[in-house]
Amino acid sequence: MTNPTILLTGATGYIASHTWLALQAAGFNVIGVDNFSNSSPEVLSRLERIGTLRPEFVQADVCDASALDAVFAGRRIAAVVHFAAHKAVGESTVRPLAYYANNLGSLLNVCQTMQRHCCKTLVFSSSATVYGKPERLPIREDAALATTSPYGATKLMGENILRDLEKADPTWAIGYLRYFNPVGAHESGLIGEDPRDTPNNLMPYVSQVAMGKRARLQIFGNDYDTPDGTGVRDYIHVLDLADGHVAALRYLLDGKGSITANLGRGRGHSVLELVRAFERASGCSVPFDIVSRRPGDIDACYADPTLARLALGWQGLRDLDAMCVDTWRWQRLNPNGMAG
Ligand SMILES: NC(=O)c1ccc[n+]([C@@H]2O[C@H](COP(=O)([O-])OP(=O)(O)OC[C@H]3O[C@@H](n4cnc5c(N)ncnc54)[C@H](O)[C@@H]3O)[C@@H](O)[C@H]2O)c1
Repeated sequence: MTNPTILLTGATGYIASHTWLALQAAGFNVIGVDNFSNSSPEVLSRLERIGTLRPEFVQADVCDASALDAVFAGRRIAAVVHFAAHKAVGESTVRPLAYYANNLGSLLNVCQTMQRHCCKTLVFSSSATVYGKPERLPIREDAALATTSPYGATKLMGENILRDLEKADPTWAIGYLRYFNPVGAHESGLIGEDPRDTPNNLMPYVSQVAMGKRARLQIFGNDYDTPDGTGVRDYIHVLDLADGHVAALRYLLDGKGSITANLGRGRGHSVLELVRAFERASGCSVPFDIVSRRPGDIDACYADPTLARLALGWQGLRDLDAMCVDTWRWQRLNPNGMAG
């Protein structure tokens, strides 16, 4: 029997590139598509260096129906992992149309193309943002859903589109993976999160401050209802997240049906805890200022990951120290990201 082929959209992005390696290691064939709107072609040579196989890749916009058709033509694609999306919450409030067009346009095109080619197994990159301001912690998958930004709305609408699709055609098998806060990098130091401009997420920002690329970190609020007053989030190592995709694909391809699962560790860490852990890992100080809260930010958010553990046999094993050590190695070896 030949190994199943998995198509990754947004393949050269942060999470997909790590997932690519995990899938290869698990024996899957992988083909990737990306338009490099938020990643670099250099990722492909890095993947080849780590994984030893030349990555099979097509440069294309996932919203382009004929380009995606050409990717499917002549291949037996067993499943798609749809990572491609714009992902910056703040930017989505300024450019909502671009977010709806890209995130929903790409999803619709992926599903329509899959349908034409009789491929009905899909993993969708959803997000903890679909829980909005959670009523109860830890957050279970059956918690109420609400969003606070156009980005979040694209994830929730994406889930709703897929649920309607499944209702209309139960032969679809869909994994709705709700990621919490992905951080860390591959232990080779060759791939990692590579923000183009000012990082949107805390960990890359902290690592740039430790590196001296940015002078100080701004911590938005220290009067939240948390042990030290700073916001608490559930950080998950990107390598664990990558393994979560392998587990989800196995589940779906084994015919067990669709699944909605939180991919988090189930442990919350505050901003100050993360800063201290990063200082330990890097041996550098991370100077910070406490500034006022950002509108829309919540006190705390962490997953109940029980369902993923029981159904997928998956859990986030790497701790905050490992996340910081791996981020720091990536940052040190690539002070300017993939650009050099
Ligand atoms: N990183 C996070 O904090 C986080 C959290 C929850 C969910 N997610 C979701 O996970 C997925 C991957 O996130 P990431 O952090 O790896 O982001 P990323 O920006 O590193 O990767 C996304 C990739 O998709 C590509 N892309 C975007 N639109 C495209 C299009 N129309 N056609 C082809 N390629 C396109 C980009 O060039 C990029 O390489 C996204 O769907 C994101 O919304 C991310």
